[in-house]
Amino acid sequence: MSNQAEFYHELLGQTKALISNESDIIANMANVSALLFEHLTEVNWVGFYRVIGDELVLGPFQGKVACIRIPLGKGVCGTCVLTGEVQRIADVHQFDGHIACDASTNAELVIPLKVEGKVVAILDIDSRAFDRFDLQDEQGLISLVQAFEQNIAAMDKAHV
Ligand code: SME
Repeated sequence: MSNQAEFYHELLGQTKALISNESDIIANMANVSALLFEHLTEVNWVGFYRVIGDELVLGPFQGKVACIRIPLGKGVCGTCVLTGEVQRIADVHQFDGHIACDASTNAELVIPLKVEGKVVAILDIDSRAFDRFDLQDEQGLISLVQAFEQNIAAMDKAHV
């Protein structure tokens, strides 16, 4: 296993251990953002936004204060919800409509969290390093979000 694969394997194990016995989504988002912020290198913001009505609303996070509400379809985060697709952005300044919560951010990775096929939240990770996130980061963090989705399903919680 490569170092990066091993790193994400470990992180997935720690995530599962943290959330597996807890049904409160906010508590789990808080701990997972803290875990990621502690272990990911060159990251200046990690957190969740929840889909509430036609907006994304700021959830648990680590980093500087951030935009509270983002309309669906706006910015990297809103685009992730609208398309249902991961947004892995090497240079946010090239992304039309990027919302700069922190002007020092240069790269961003946003992963949708789905319940019954519907995006109910997103995991957003920002970095000051251009091109910070590669395909292995994307895959590793998708697995982590999938563990979150499985936990929600297992806890039989339809809403986040
Ligand atoms: N940059 C995001 C906004 C959220 S902050 O990065 C925390 C966007 O364009 O949607």
